[in-house]
Amino acid sequence: MRWAAVWAIWAILAGTLAAGAADRVDSGPVFRYLGAKWCKPCHNRNSPNPKLRVFHGWEGSAHAKAWEVLPDEDKDNPVCLRCHTTGYGLPRRADTRPEDLRGVQCEACHGPGSHYFPWRIMKDPVVSRERGLVIPDRDVCMRCHW
Ligand code: HEC
Ligand code: HEC
Ligand code: HEC
Ligand code: HEC
Repeated sequence: MRWAAVWAIWAILAGTLAAGAADRVDSGPVFRYLGAKWCKPCHNRNSPNPKLRVFHGWEGSAHAKAWEVLPDEDKDNPVCLRCHTTGYGLPRRADTRPEDLRGVQCEACHGPGSHYFPWRIMKDPVVSRERGLVIPDRDVCMRCHW
């Protein structure tokens, strides 16, 4: 009898938890922008996998400098910031400042990283995409390049 009661409670709890999880999936978590410094530790020259060593290449690119090239009078102009910064006007992590998102950073093409940057998520190509990772196609470029 006692075990039956325990199982009944467990079943109710598990059902509630499952429903809660389903709710979260339905409404979707809010993916937030972090800034490229969060990607650097795993995508720098020390990465064990040569294919992941992309940070320094990006750092030297025109995309990384896209905010710096704006004339001084336009460095705060929302019209320009939409294409010359990352995730402009979109949700960012509380500890990420607008200055951290200057230029066309990783997340401008790969999507906001708040939910996919941890190692255990990144290493799983299916889960990382569910958590917001984008492998960009032409349409992503076309948001800024017409
Ligand atoms: C904790 C380490 C870590 C961090 C932080 C990290 N990555 Fe990764 N990333 C990895 C690993 C490991 C892989 C390889 C996954 C695999 O084996 O397919 C990867 C793969 C990728 C890929 C290729 C995925 C694919 O399936 O082709 C992209 C794109 C990527 N990362 C972008 C980012 C961006 C953008 C950030 C910052 C927001 C970031 N990563 C932060 C470890 C990390
Ligand atoms: C719809 C997206 C978009 C908007 C909005 C936008 N830009 Fe750009 N801008 C681009 C793209 C894309 C390029 C790169 C073009 C190329 O190299 O083919 C660029 C290039 C530039 C360059 C040249 C940089 C260089 O290295 O020569 C300057 C300067 C510039 N934009 C200033 C501005 C200013 C100022 C504004 C706001 C008044 C603005 N842009 C608004 C997308 C945009
Ligand atoms: C202007 C857009 C853009 C930016 C900015 C950008 N990427 Fe990418 N990235 C791409 C594209 C496009 C691919 C190739 C996707 C494919 O294989 O179809 C790619 C591929 C990758 C890969 C897989 C490489 C491989 O050979 O499998 C990784 C890892 C990656 N990016 C990480 C990053 C990180 C980290 C940053 C920032 C330091 C970054 N990317 C910035 C567009 C971008
Ligand atoms: C968030 C807006 C944005 C997105 C998304 C974006 N770009 Fe750009 N891109 C820019 C801006 C702005 C510049 C101009 C930067 C500068 O000149 O400093 C630029 C410059 C370039 C350049 C010129 C580089 C050079 O050395 O002159 C190329 C090539 C380019 N982008 C390709 C791409 C491709 C391919 C994609 C998609 C995978 C892409 N961009 C996605 C905004 C964007």
